[in-house]
Amino acid sequence: MTKRILSGIQPTSDSFHLGNYLGALKQWVELQEGNDAFYCIVDLHALTGEIEPALLRKRILTSAAQLIALGISPEKSTLFVQSHVAEHNQLGWIMECIAGFGEANRMTQFKDKSAKGGADSTRVGLFTYPMLQAADILLYQAHYVPVGEDQRQHIELTRDLATRFNSRFGETFRIPEGYILKSGAKIYDLQEPTNKMSKSSGSTAGVLEILDTPEANAKKIKSATTDAGREIKFDEKEKPGISNLLSIHSALSGQKISDLEDDFAGKGYGDFKAAVAEVVADHLRPIRDRALELLDDEQHLVQVLHAGADKARAVASATVAESYKNLGLVL
Ligand code: TYM
Repeated sequence: MTKRILSGIQPTSDSFHLGNYLGALKQWVELQEGNDAFYCIVDLHALTGEIEPALLRKRILTSAAQLIALGISPEKSTLFVQSHVAEHNQLGWIMECIAGFGEANRMTQFKDKSAKGGADSTRVGLFTYPMLQAADILLYQAHYVPVGEDQRQHIELTRDLATRFNSRFGETFRIPEGYILKSGAKIYDLQEPTNKMSKSSGSTAGVLEILDTPEANAKKIKSATTDAGREIKFDEKEKPGISNLLSIHSALSGQKISDLEDDFAGKGYGDFKAAVAEVVADHLRPIRDRALELLDDEQHLVQVLHAGADKARAVASATVAESYKNLGLVL
């Protein structure tokens, strides 16, 4: 049966990284086949950090180019920008009025980010961020939400808010499920393989970027932190660096981790890293080339996004109307 799929990504860096790709975007591409998929560049969420207008605009368009380049087809999926569909703000407010302050205060992403930034630079929007994310999902009556492990708590909150709304005001929202893979759901920083690969990490030395040159990424892989010993073996506790590289190779090449361990038995870290660099380059090179090509025609990208927003709005406005009616608002 055709399922409704919804996911989103923030346009907060000059390039998506391999964690985004393996944790989420690869599944976005797979799930657009035979399903009704909605993929959103969540620019309003990106306003919760520092805002640099020229950079933000560029990053929104670069996000769209990368998504199309890595296989999101605007014909098969509905690809759009969150701020083009005002219903996200409308339902976002409703979600804020359904959520408790205490439960919002338990969101670990908020705690981590606000602890890093300090009270003065932490925006109220960062606190209410998960309620807007809940609205993103519920507007489209999504069955599945393909995301990485770090989004699990936000999906749980979304389910709680939808369940609460439905039981208080009548069946309105489908209760969505996270679509989180076992392997690849958390890709780690190459330099600090116990931290997730992240655009907000202090240095980019451990972050493999889709739009980086294959040479730059190969260099990062070759200087990735490795562990004591010489064996190529998956052991997240004792060998987090090698385990991370094994996960990356396996997710991209489709080879099982145990087969890779056999193939590299008796070989050194240098050989293994060279093989990982090659797999990464083979995958990312065509994506990078296509994305750069698409960025040459901004007008076309904007047209594609507007067409996506029109399709998204048709679904989103029906959900807002239903929720308003059930709340007792006069339509
Ligand atoms: P964002 O923009 O930080 O990341 C986009 C997606 O990439 C995944 N991801 C990772 N997966 C594996 N390993 C990593 N190191 C890694 N880093 C990031 C994330 O889990 C995510 O799936 N709050 C969301 C954006 C959002 C959203 C939504 C997602 C807004 N509304 C509605 C789904 C549905 C976020 O900040 O993702």
